[in-house]
Amino acid sequence: MPIILGIESSCDDTSAAICINGKICSNVIANQLIHKHYGGVVPELASRVHQQNIVPVVHQAISIAKVHKNDIDAIAFTRGPGLLGSLLVGTSFAKGFALANTIPLIEVNHMQAHILAHFIDEPKPSFPFLCLTVSGGHTQIVLVKDYFDMEIVGQTTDDAAGEAFDKTAKILGLPYPGGPLIDKYAAEGDHLAFKFPEPQIPGLDFSFSGLKTSILYFVRDELKKNPGFLENRINDVCASVQHRIVTILLNKLKKAARQFQISDIAIAGGVSANSGLRKSLLEVAGENNWNVFIPKFEYCTDNAAMIAMAGYYKFLKSDFVSQEVAPMARMVF
Ligand code: KG4
Ligand code: ZN
Repeated sequence: MPIILGIESSCDDTSAAICINGKICSNVIANQLIHKHYGGVVPELASRVHQQNIVPVVHQAISIAKVHKNDIDAIAFTRGPGLLGSLLVGTSFAKGFALANTIPLIEVNHMQAHILAHFIDEPKPSFPFLCLTVSGGHTQIVLVKDYFDMEIVGQTTDDAAGEAFDKTAKILGLPYPGGPLIDKYAAEGDHLAFKFPEPQIPGLDFSFSGLKTSILYFVRDELKKNPGFLENRINDVCASVQHRIVTILLNKLKKAARQFQISDIAIAGGVSANSGLRKSLLEVAGENNWNVFIPKFEYCTDNAAMIAMAGYYKFLKSDFVSQEVAPMARMVF
């Protein structure tokens, strides 16, 4: 009955979770509201807030799971990718905790963990499956052959899908993170009101920077004609932008499913919380006979449950790291 403590601190959420024998028993997340008015995460502020939050968050996760710290068999932490100053807080905490309690240390790749979040609850996908991993820093189509045997078959050549949401929000004068707000406004708008371009990128790769520029110029020109444009039409703008991002993502996913002849399809990462993406994915799944896996909302955005889950599978293989381990801002798998 291994008990794993998972720690996540790659960006702006400090999180700790307890996994007992493959079951998540607590998942505590402290969000950082301090970045709201900066249009994005300020790395220096993020690491400072992680430093303040990490100990109380871990205490809470241990107490909710009703375990004792001496019963913990291993500590799993996000080694990367992410912001170096943020990763350092979680990594240093994990190293100290492992040393103090004489337990093994398990490194976890944050992007793999987003995918392994699908193994927290039933139904669990079976291998091989395709996962569209869409977050604030990454947009990838991953061929998942086994828990830790994953191949990136397509990815963004510039901005991530989450960044496209967040930068659009900034253009529209909305606070960070913009994704959830665009989602909310889009629900009230007409997605066919404005047409934004779909980039023509070969293969399974993505590009979102052209879309961002076209939104910037579009809003600038509309505001010149009518200074009240955003007050009147923000719902339609959000719905149209969201529709375009979702169609870009799903068109590539359809292409990947055809190419690899795979019909078990998952989505993961912060943008997988988007209601437009979730709804359209279900429609496309119906048309293509896909078996889809959509994570619970709490496991879409950054959380330590997925880190503890990945840690559990590594624990079963005795895949541990030494105290020399250092965080990696860029970490591939
Ligand atoms: O996975 P995540 O929590 O952190 C990273 O690893 O980056 O993803 C954060 C991203 C942000 O860009 C945020 O705007 C986006 O996920 N996001 C959403 C929604 N909820 C979070 N984007 C669109 N719609 C949402 N409902
Ligand atoms: Zn993430």
